[in-house]
Amino acid sequence: MASQVLVAANRGPLSYALSDQGTLSARRGGGGLVSGLSAALAQQPEALWICAALSEADREAVRRGVAEPGVRMLDIDPTVYDDAYNGIANSVLWFTHHHLYNVPREPVFDARFRQQWQSYVAYNKAFAEALAEEAAEGARVLVQDYHLALVPGALRELRPDLRIAHFTHTPWASYEFLRMLPDDIRSQLMWGMLGADVVGFHTWAWAHTFMGGAHLDDERGIAQPMSPAGTGGERYIQKSPWSPVRHKRTDVAVYALGVDADELRALAHRPEVDEKLAQLRAEVGDRKAIVRVDRTELSKNILRGLLAYRELLTVHPEWRGRVVHLASAYPSRQDLKVYREYTESVRELAEEINAEFGTADWRPVLVSVKDDFARSLAAYRMADVALVNPVRDGMNLVAKEIPVVSEAGCVLVLSTGAGAYQELRADALTVNPFDVTETAEALHAALSMPDEERAGRTQRLAAAATALPPSAWFTAQLDALA
Ligand code: G6P
Repeated sequence: MASQVLVAANRGPLSYALSDQGTLSARRGGGGLVSGLSAALAQQPEALWICAALSEADREAVRRGVAEPGVRMLDIDPTVYDDAYNGIANSVLWFTHHHLYNVPREPVFDARFRQQWQSYVAYNKAFAEALAEEAAEGARVLVQDYHLALVPGALRELRPDLRIAHFTHTPWASYEFLRMLPDDIRSQLMWGMLGADVVGFHTWAWAHTFMGGAHLDDERGIAQPMSPAGTGGERYIQKSPWSPVRHKRTDVAVYALGVDADELRALAHRPEVDEKLAQLRAEVGDRKAIVRVDRTELSKNILRGLLAYRELLTVHPEWRGRVVHLASAYPSRQDLKVYREYTESVRELAEEINAEFGTADWRPVLVSVKDDFARSLAAYRMADVALVNPVRDGMNLVAKEIPVVSEAGCVLVLSTGAGAYQELRADALTVNPFDVTETAEALHAALSMPDEERAGRTQRLAAAATALPPSAWFTAQLDALA
């Protein structure tokens, strides 16, 4: 049966594992996109989620036809998939949008890149075709993230009747970074994005960089702003030759994803989380806890976070033995060497700090480099301080989750690079992500904050965090397409 509401994202709500005996088991996918969308789609039983098979186990699940209802996994050729996901999406587009390039050496756009780009085009086309096949007349389609930037344009050519939104969960690159891409590639990217009726971001900071880039490319004929940037409801007219058929206008909008407090608190109070909490409490004792939870991801700035903690212990020795840094850095994108090396550096630096300051009964840093959602939730409950210091990041849902779940209230140390910065800055201690000394001082101020002030801030942070829970976030985007 054709669907009225469709979502397309690289990652699906679950992924499979294949045991030696050949049995398949499903587990929840990681990252902000999956947690937000899964929660939203729980309220939309009719919707279809189209995603890629990410692993051999997922492909086996497709072959055996075991996919969950409401989910269609695309079995894309593994080489094409690897080039599109690791080669382009995670090594080029992610690095561009997060400004992660080490410019003296990267990026290098050579023949190999061109080959990978063709795979990215093919992978986007596979999504566009599947959506065109599954969508009912006039259906609404919500395409997610930088993996699928070409889908709106391609889908509009196939199905001009559809209403299409694209949502970016990452930042959007500043024009200096965007223009590093070869001109024809950047044009394809903008053509794809501007095929959507609505292009959405988590915060105006990223919506503005998108509009700035589209505006600067105006001379080249891609887009033309209709109202001044920053006034809300900005519109773009597309001009030929890039304009996908019969499409004239793209609105740029902001939907700041928040958390569902009741659901999150219920998750955080399951028996398995209670168990993890008891274990962590035994390790931490009555010391204060500085908590961070991220994917092991370059943009999260975990290393400078550890450096700041080391500086705290050096400059404010009164905290030695009285605080523990709980850092969950669960593995991510380990096919990429630079991520494996980053993960290793996180481990090494944590060990150095433990060797430098640790005593017989005090381990200053407890790092957990595995995917353990229950342990993360237990750490949220214990948090006295939450450290969220990305160099540049789409939203950082964790900055919203910890204040909602922390039992005694927590102080949020938040960097200006976080997507949540705009919404949470008033009640957080804000830092420049590159300034380790400032971050160390913010940790000191956070640990020293009087209970009353901390409680007030936590309450206001939790209110801001829950302003647009996933189901409302999703419905608002659907309504914009009506
Ligand atoms: C970010 C992206 C998501 C992605 C998630 C996890 O939040 O915006 O699209 O799913 O990271 O990354 P992964 O590569 O594991 O899907």
